[in-house]
Amino acid sequence: MLVEKNVPLQAFNTFHIVAKAHRLVHIASELDVHELLQHPAWGAEPKFVLGGGSNIVLTGDVKPLVLKVEIMGRRLVQETAKAFIVEAGAGENWHDFVAWTLAQGYAGLENMALIPGTVGASPVQNVGAYGVELQDRFEALDAADLQTGQVFTLDAAQCGFGYRDSVFKHGASGHQGVGLKGRALILRVRFSLPKLWKPVLGYADIDKKMLEHSCTHPTAQQMFDWVCEIRRAKLPDPAVIGNAGSFFKNPTVTPEQCADIIARDPKVVHYRLADGSVKLAAGWLIDSCGWRGKSVGLAGVYDKQALVLVNRGSGHDGDSASGGEVMTLARAIQTSVYERFGIRLEIEPVVV
Ligand code: EPU
Repeated sequence: MLVEKNVPLQAFNTFHIVAKAHRLVHIASELDVHELLQHPAWGAEPKFVLGGGSNIVLTGDVKPLVLKVEIMGRRLVQETAKAFIVEAGAGENWHDFVAWTLAQGYAGLENMALIPGTVGASPVQNVGAYGVELQDRFEALDAADLQTGQVFTLDAAQCGFGYRDSVFKHGASGHQGVGLKGRALILRVRFSLPKLWKPVLGYADIDKKMLEHSCTHPTAQQMFDWVCEIRRAKLPDPAVIGNAGSFFKNPTVTPEQCADIIARDPKVVHYRLADGSVKLAAGWLIDSCGWRGKSVGLAGVYDKQALVLVNRGSGHDGDSASGGEVMTLARAIQTSVYERFGIRLEIEPVVV
């Protein structure tokens, strides 16, 4: 078992923030997890599980032992009357996995193309885009308990999925007492991809593509291509500009709160939800407070989508926004949105 010391994490987080892991170990298999937990020196150390690093803000060096998950493999595990059950190792790149499922003829993940990160990280925040969330296609996952080494399986209900939320984001005292934050290492995830596939439509950006292409019945591959085009046009590529996707969640308010905001600002972008509440576009709220394109040090608000904070550093010779700058900018945005609209924006990535 090779435990590396003082490992730079800049390449291992999509924000490209400069920070180090005091110690880091690569986890390529379930066996590696068992070996680590039985190790006399490292077994009982506090641990931090790192996937693709696409949903974290590093505010300093990471002191707990970093477990870099690199468990690979993709396969069809079962075919039922209604679905293909497909499994991927936690270390697989999410987008490559989505592309692979389509190439095999299993549709259903195409709306979530190009989401950065790994398969193992995808259930943690219940990733989603263009009307499909991971929970809509989720079958089950296997995870290892980092205290006991026991491997267990969770179905969707046990994962406690919510909007950009799951049991993996909460400590034992949160989420109805069943939080698994810091406790579980996700090994493999299985998806149920429907044989009777229908495109999930209804998003303005997708509707525009259908009009442009005079197409009313897109194939899964067309949906995949359009989602990639839409994302490339409005979201920064983390390989070029460091970022962690949407930095805040879209807030939900009561119809009365929404009416109050509309009275003050009729243009507020909002969507009525099935339960009667109203979801507001956080990007619009931030944009209308004048933040688009603004910076604090080298941390900035992306100029094409105000919901995304970016690292304006060149990435060379330590020229990078610090996690502190990102958080200062985030707090200033929260304050100004609160002062103008009375809404507290919730941060979406995990702050480490
Ligand atoms: N808007 C503005 N100004 C901005 C940004 C947005 O006016 O600077 C307006 C847009 O014009 C649009 C509305 O706000 O009317 C919503 O914007 P968009 O369609 O880009 O989607 P979003 O609500 O900002 C969410 C997800 C994205 C996901 C898209 C598409 C969250 C936190 N974000 O963004 O997910 O790709 O919908 O489904 O729910 C992510 O989680 O990292 C992510 C990128």
